[in-house]
Amino acid sequence: MSDIFYDPYSPLLHRDPYPVYRRLRDEAPVFRNEEHDFYAITRHADVWAAFQDWGRLSSAEGITLEGLPPDIHPELITMDPPRHGELRDIVKRAFRTNHMARLFERVREIAGELVDALDPAACDLARDLSIPMPAIAIAELLGVPRADVPKFRLWSEHLVQRDLNNPPTIDRARRASQELHEFLVWHIAAQRADPKDDMLGLLVRARDEGQAMNDEELVGFARLLLVAGNETTGQLVGNMIVALAHNPGQRAEVAADPALAARAVEETLRYDSAVQALARTTLVDYPVQDVIVPAGSRLLIVIGSANRDERMFTDPDRFDIHRDPATLSRHIGFGRGIHFCLGAMLARAEGEASLQALLARFPNYRLACDEVPMVASGQVRGPTALPLAA
Ligand code: HEM
Repeated sequence: MSDIFYDPYSPLLHRDPYPVYRRLRDEAPVFRNEEHDFYAITRHADVWAAFQDWGRLSSAEGITLEGLPPDIHPELITMDPPRHGELRDIVKRAFRTNHMARLFERVREIAGELVDALDPAACDLARDLSIPMPAIAIAELLGVPRADVPKFRLWSEHLVQRDLNNPPTIDRARRASQELHEFLVWHIAAQRADPKDDMLGLLVRARDEGQAMNDEELVGFARLLLVAGNETTGQLVGNMIVALAHNPGQRAEVAADPALAARAVEETLRYDSAVQALARTTLVDYPVQDVIVPAGSRLLIVIGSANRDERMFTDPDRFDIHRDPATLSRHIGFGRGIHFCLGAMLARAEGEASLQALLARFPNYRLACDEVPMVASGQVRGPTALPLAA
């Protein structure tokens, strides 16, 4: 019997979850946490299969261990088929417009502006680059004025940083949810009065033309873009800055050949996944390894562990931008199956642009601390501060 214990809310785990994940994969690939009442799967093959098993594993009770807050509005990410497929078809079209192509251009400009404004004497690459970058990009995507970006950032931070062992953070998340909801209702009404040429304007017009997204779903989708695309992308950029600080040889290669930034982004998605774990609910008894997870259980799918599974990736604890692309493409950083991340291309573009802009100005950047503070979350992983060494 293994004595391994896994609590996704533990601060120790936030610092470095990977030794725990390794033991889970080896000793308890289906782990039962009695206290928080969930099962966790950690091997790549099991995680890969689970993401594709939407018939038996539902997202409708929420994809966090805490489940859905009571005031929640319908969101694509927490829908099951058939409604999920209908809505995904509508929003997929919105992700393929000229507006998106322009946004990719803007992303490069935003990264350049943020890096130009860095003050080498008092600079925090999280506060000044990795965190604002995606918030500005999503605000532009939704047509939200720049002045509202700080509010946006705070709401999404509070929505993500929930800790079951710390009830005030749950209350704070509920408040943020409510305030964000009110803001989006107002913003969508403004768009309806005067639709702009951005993604929300496009979806509002689609709705007015009788296409099947009701107002509640529209609010839910806008909210989802903010939450799904903001914190996560910031963590990706932050984790990449840390990984390259610890691997100066590879950082020098990317500085010399900026096209390698794409590889650094992809390897970071594997090596230190921004989204570490997502939950599902078992609709039937779900056999995995030699355990039957009973119907109605919460099942935590641990992406961060799957991406370090030695059964799939050679020398998985090594950051290596030269990994074989075919094997690397098996990383699960953006999920898999019907809920595969709709913003993956945008997130990659933001990651590449941020890194290229940073290395063009600071090719040999050094961080002021060896161990950076990490976000207190059972679900996402990334640094909260990245002070640059003077
Ligand atoms: C590094 C950054 C990102 C990471 C690591 C990430 C990760 C993920 C993951 C793992 C899922 C699957 C959820 C599930 O299966 O339950 C997902 C879904 C989703 N992501 Fe991302 N994401 C990122 C950036 C973005 C961006 C920039 C956007 C939008 C602007 C976005 C929009 C979405 C949406 C809409 C879904 C739901 C798709 C569906 O349910 O069909 N994401 N993301």
